[in-house]
Amino acid sequence: MCGIVGYIGKDNNAGEVLLEGLKRLEYRGYDSAGICVMSGNKSKTFKAVGKVVELEKKIGKYRTDTTMGIAHTRWATHGKPSVKNAHPHSSGKIHLVHNGIIENYQELKEKLIKKGHKFSSETDSEVVAHLIDEYSNKNDFEQAVFAALQDIRGAYALVMLSEDEPEKMIAVRNSSPLVIGVADDGFVLASDASAIIQHTDKVVYLDDEELVIFTPETYKVKTFAGRNKYKKEQTLEWNDEQAQKEGYKHFMLKEIFEQPSAVADAIRGRIIVKDGLAKLGGLVDVEDKLRDIKRIVIVSCGTSYCAGLVGEYMLEEYAGIPTEVEYASEFRYRKPLIDKKTAVIAISQSGETADTLAAIREAKNKGGLTLGIVNAVGSTIARETDAGIYNHAGPEVGVASTKAFTSQLSILVLLTVFLGRQRDMSLTMGKKILSELNKLPKKIDEIFEDGKNIKRIANKYTKYESMFYLGRKYNFPIAMEGALKIKEISYIHAEGYPSGEMKHGPIALIDKDFPSVILAPKDSVYDKTLSAIEEIKARGGKVVAITTVGNEEKIKKHANDVIEIPKTLEMLTPLLAVVPLQLLAYYAGVKKGFDVDKPRNLAKSVTVE
Ligand code: M6R
Repeated sequence: MCGIVGYIGKDNNAGEVLLEGLKRLEYRGYDSAGICVMSGNKSKTFKAVGKVVELEKKIGKYRTDTTMGIAHTRWATHGKPSVKNAHPHSSGKIHLVHNGIIENYQELKEKLIKKGHKFSSETDSEVVAHLIDEYSNKNDFEQAVFAALQDIRGAYALVMLSEDEPEKMIAVRNSSPLVIGVADDGFVLASDASAIIQHTDKVVYLDDEELVIFTPETYKVKTFAGRNKYKKEQTLEWNDEQAQKEGYKHFMLKEIFEQPSAVADAIRGRIIVKDGLAKLGGLVDVEDKLRDIKRIVIVSCGTSYCAGLVGEYMLEEYAGIPTEVEYASEFRYRKPLIDKKTAVIAISQSGETADTLAAIREAKNKGGLTLGIVNAVGSTIARETDAGIYNHAGPEVGVASTKAFTSQLSILVLLTVFLGRQRDMSLTMGKKILSELNKLPKKIDEIFEDGKNIKRIANKYTKYESMFYLGRKYNFPIAMEGALKIKEISYIHAEGYPSGEMKHGPIALIDKDFPSVILAPKDSVYDKTLSAIEEIKARGGKVVAITTVGNEEKIKKHANDVIEIPKTLEMLTPLLAVVPLQLLAYYAGVKKGFDVDKPRNLAKSVTVE
């Protein structure tokens, strides 16, 4: 999730407008930034690693004397944070900024290299600049962009300039956001309205497969099929902060709602359903070693630890590899038995968690093969592991991890298929898992339709001081994650427990003031879960059940309140079941008046032991 800005107009300070826009978009990514401004048909590009202030130091007099330009603040996906990987990317007279992922960039890059193109970055984005440049040999700028769109696959918002047509700027949107601001002196376009509202409250929201051609005076929207499209201008009613949150009250809520795209981005370009294969570029170098590993140890903390527990169930059941999950903070204080046939996987959103990093260093020291499942590209864990898979979830601003979790689970599904297919997982099973994984973004969206019911339940249970979160098999880790969320956000004491284990002691806590949230999807342990519900009810405890759609009426006989989730494969239910639990925690925290984005005593990234 990067931030992009473009400006074209009559004002003479494009550089200024773009820098200001980038600062407001920095929450979308901040590992490097860049700008390309035009003065007549001459372009000037500046790039810097780090925050926008570093770029600002370089741009000098080009803040003014420029009437058009594009700019980018990066959250790395392909290629580490560096000056050469920073946008804008250029080829010949074409310059562009990109937010999204070009799925087929490798194959396009190979073709373009054969035609003599020389690449200077490791990014997927640069390929688009070369493609447009290639088509510009025989076409004007607009035709070249249209031609390139036929070739690229993936998610992208692009803003492009050509020195051959210096009075024109072209932008496209497909599955990545782009908003046009219509100001008195020109047009500002950006990934979200926070970079626009200081100039104008008149905006046009682009839809997927739309292309816009700007001149300093006017703009025209076309569909990818080339038809003109009328777009209604709307009036923005947000302030700066609301615009960053895209109208959501908190980053946490925004990030919960971003999960359909976080899951889609995690699997984008990594699935070959017809062959039942997961294509994981980051593991290519260790593919042979992975074929030989006999054991997996997952090390992680907090929410990432809960993701690891789900991974354990998946990897053992479907890839047939013995797997253990360790709190990273414990790992190096005992004597972990690691050898070269052991893969040690660090799961970390930030890639900077000190405990996880120390565990990976210890594992390396003992000769294990280290892998990372990391969201922050170029972070220390990503750099220090032998190989890994990036989440591509974009920055997570809310301290409580939400979209990073579902994205981690998606990667663990891909890893299970990858390792399983190296072993004895059948083609049919590979296809079944991957095609169902593909459907999850839509299924997560369906859960949001039940938002009012979830909010009602959250409000009802906020008064209790303690709660159980119970689940079995794949959903035991989700019970732990649900309990962690409600603890962090609403400061309600909660225990995440295996539902079958509860009767061995904790059940003593149950009374009318100690409710339980129970994960009860229609899976292979459903009947056992019903028994746990009965045990709680018999002791006067209240129950909120999370069950599979269609089962509501039946489970209502046992539970006080019910939330439904769509049907999916048992191994994938955690990706759906966690969503209502995140919302329950969020609404409970809001109801109690807490700052849910910055809960007390917590930090987003725990870089101390
Ligand atoms: O960045 P990491 O995934 O390594 O962070 C691990 C934990 O600190 C993190 O998940 C923490 O538990 C979150 N606050 C959970 O919401």
